[in-house]
Amino acid sequence: MSQEFNITVLPGDGIGPEVIREAVKILRIVEAKKNLKLHLTEAPAGGAAYDATGHPLPEATLNTAKEADAVLLGAVGGPKWETLDFALRPERALLGLRSNLGLFANLRPAKIFAPLVEASTLKPDVVEGLDIMVVRELTGGIYFGEPRGVETLADGSRRGINTLVYTDSEIERIAKVAFDVARKRGKNVCSVDKANVLECTGLWREVVTQTHEDYQDITLSHMYVDNCAMQLVRNPKQFDVIVTTNMFGDILSDQASMLTGSIGMLPSASLGGKNAMYEPIHGSAPDIAGKDIANPLAAILSVGMMFKYSLNLEDISVVLEKVVDEVLKQGYRTGDILSKGMKEVGCIAMGDRVAEELEKRLS
Ligand SMILES: NC(=O)c1ccc[n+]([C@@H]2O[C@H](COP(=O)([O-])OP(=O)(O)OC[C@H]3O[C@@H](n4cnc5c(N)ncnc54)[C@H](O)[C@@H]3O)[C@@H](O)[C@H]2O)c1
Repeated sequence: MSQEFNITVLPGDGIGPEVIREAVKILRIVEAKKNLKLHLTEAPAGGAAYDATGHPLPEATLNTAKEADAVLLGAVGGPKWETLDFALRPERALLGLRSNLGLFANLRPAKIFAPLVEASTLKPDVVEGLDIMVVRELTGGIYFGEPRGVETLADGSRRGINTLVYTDSEIERIAKVAFDVARKRGKNVCSVDKANVLECTGLWREVVTQTHEDYQDITLSHMYVDNCAMQLVRNPKQFDVIVTTNMFGDILSDQASMLTGSIGMLPSASLGGKNAMYEPIHGSAPDIAGKDIANPLAAILSVGMMFKYSLNLEDISVVLEKVVDEVLKQGYRTGDILSKGMKEVGCIAMGDRVAEELEKRLS
């Protein structure tokens, strides 16, 4: 009997629909080759949803996401919606999905593909073989803390407020995810905080250290976020798993992504709830949207993570990484990872190349 899965597909804005179309090609190939039944339900999210319904995360979209086994998201946002009230901005859809689905753990691998070593801005010997997993807390911290907002004071001046909040249970559960992930990798966790300045992250350090008592096979170290930003550029291969807060993780994982050549290469998985959400880490890239030049590999590799964490087909995620490596070895490149002597292809053609290689490997 074939395995059945419900997948909610949220293409979103900008290049979101372009890269998701290529990722869906991959889902369909695996469905056919592995005799699965994938029920794909597409729904609007972000700016597209605001235009259609007046809200970036309509009730109907949230409900289909809640019922799905997995959610695949492109990207949301763009200049068209930048003047909207914060509560209606496309990015609120992301926060709404993460918090409503209980997705507190964001896994962001930064792994370099050998053919792209030259595409990194760092020297080849610094990045060759790089394989870091950033585990970012996703539903707490300063992005959600109250009070927040901008207020006008009695003298007419204005004051902006955001609040960094973490409870010990929120810290403990993300630390456990990081230690569990490390157990299947290099058994090394670096917890990143700013415990010398922020009391909240002092608690973070304390709770991560306590949680580590149950994971004595894992080596734990602590690092301040400013040092981590520096070490990621100086000697990134010292890291295996980095666990950190929502905002620090947002910034550090983007930095780690550039070590691998392009933000267009990096997938992510958000776990912790009944189901999980998968998305490339890049945004909607309005500067290149609609031109068929976006790199679809981050979205395609996100589907790889979906097979691993939600669809019980870890072998497919391994095969997909091999296929991407092979296509890069053959010299195919989208503009963001293009180097001298390589063959430039668009988003659709890159998706087709991966699809063809995958079909060959799965036959
Ligand atoms: N998860 C998300 O949906 C998400 C994440 C980040 C930003 N955003 C939103 O996206 C919009 C643009 O944000 P930004 O410019 O800061 O970040 P971005 O990631 O969209 O783009 C940053 C740069 O990287 C390039 N880039 C991104 N993805 C690429 C790809 N797949 N292939 C080739 N090049 C790629 C872009 O062209 C741009 O030059 C904003 O509205 C922002 O709020 C959404």
